[in-house]
Amino acid sequence: MSAPGAASGALPGAPWLERRGTELHLEGHALAPLARRFGTPLFVYSRGAMRAALASYQRALAGRRHLVCYAMKANSSLAVLQTFAEAGCGFDIVSGGELERVLAAGGSASKVVFSGVGKTRAEMRQALEAGTDGVRCFNVESVPELERLDAEARAVGRRARVSLRINPDVDARTHPYISTGLRDNKFGIAHAEALDAYRRAAALPGLQVVGIDCHIGSQITQVEPYLDALDRLLDLVDAVEAAGIALHHVDVGGGLGITYTDERPPDAAVLVSRLLERLDARGHGHREILFEPGRSLVGNAGVLLAEVQYLKPGEAKNFCIVDAAMNDLVRPAMYGAWMAIEPCTLRDTPPVRWDVVGPVCESGDWLGRDRDLALEPGDVLAVLSAGAYGMAMASNYNTRSRAAELMLDGDAVHLIREREPARGLFAHERLVPAPAGR
Ligand code: LLP
Repeated sequence: MSAPGAASGALPGAPWLERRGTELHLEGHALAPLARRFGTPLFVYSRGAMRAALASYQRALAGRRHLVCYAMKANSSLAVLQTFAEAGCGFDIVSGGELERVLAAGGSASKVVFSGVGKTRAEMRQALEAGTDGVRCFNVESVPELERLDAEARAVGRRARVSLRINPDVDARTHPYISTGLRDNKFGIAHAEALDAYRRAAALPGLQVVGIDCHIGSQITQVEPYLDALDRLLDLVDAVEAAGIALHHVDVGGGLGITYTDERPPDAAVLVSRLLERLDARGHGHREILFEPGRSLVGNAGVLLAEVQYLKPGEAKNFCIVDAAMNDLVRPAMYGAWMAIEPCTLRDTPPVRWDVVGPVCESGDWLGRDRDLALEPGDVLAVLSAGAYGMAMASNYNTRSRAAELMLDGDAVHLIREREPARGLFAHERLVPAPAGR
């Protein structure tokens, strides 16, 4: 995932992100003045870009029974969820907390699929009792989970709709940390054990088998791994139905990549149409198809703005110290991810090579290495493609308040998350009682 070189040609996020003269703009708004008005670090999102990314899936699926379930782990801010809920989108969740967020943002439990290997009893109950009839489907990852879910569903007098997440053992050809469909991953039920698991599920009275799913990884830039995984799923669908168990939907997961540097992932519409072609060719065109995209709906719709605090030229390296850090955007520190960095206002002085780093007390606290930039203290930098796995993975390490967030929507600028007040960071902590007699 670490890629050298600079983003070439159009900016990742174009046409929503563009350079007009010296100024970087997102959805028509100059970014440097927004940074000065709202302070930094600041995430800024384009609502138009999010809607357009979703529409690319939805248009290609028109006329088919389908549901796009936004994998909200990528960016779970309420206004982002609201944007997708208003556009008819469902949600892929992985915790009870995410379910609460969906409902708070106006999403419907009937369009929620619940993924994850470690669902607790409490989370199962919460999902069974959400909305009028619980979540749409549990994506179950093991036989013990089936048994636990059956017990919980019967205890509340419901039947849980289930899909089994199959580990298709295909190589998504992406970074090992975010590849999830190989045999040695913790995810899903092995292909060879799936038929027995379906028989077990069909025999449990608290469950209703409705589908099959997989998710093979993230930041996938080719169509072929998806086609391989779909083939493996459809082989199983045939076998499961031959055993007398009907399957309503096929959920092909998420994982479509975006452009960080020079990647050229297929457009969502191309991915969708290739998968639909394969479904049709194999005689499964009547089935409802589900997608769980995260990154491809939000990644290129957002930037993280940071202000240059100090320039620290050195013998071995030049450091540009900004006010955003690994706690705001952990992808570079965690995966060695390369994310483009652009000055919000271009200078006409010659560029110098910098490591762009944050103020956190860790050598791993960097946002970009070896970047050629013309800078002065006080300049605003934009880390591009920061709409996915940015704020959603932010922490309070070093007792740093999490950033504020803006949503741009046409002419409007909405503050969708205030900067956290420092007091709030320890509001739920308690001092121990003072020793008696002092
Ligand atoms: N469905 C399931 C079951 C998943 O586990 C994931 C992501 C998705 C859908 C959405 O995948 P996407 O379309 O966003 O690729 N933090 C890492 C990415 C971790 C992805 C985890 N699962 C990163 O920053 O690259």
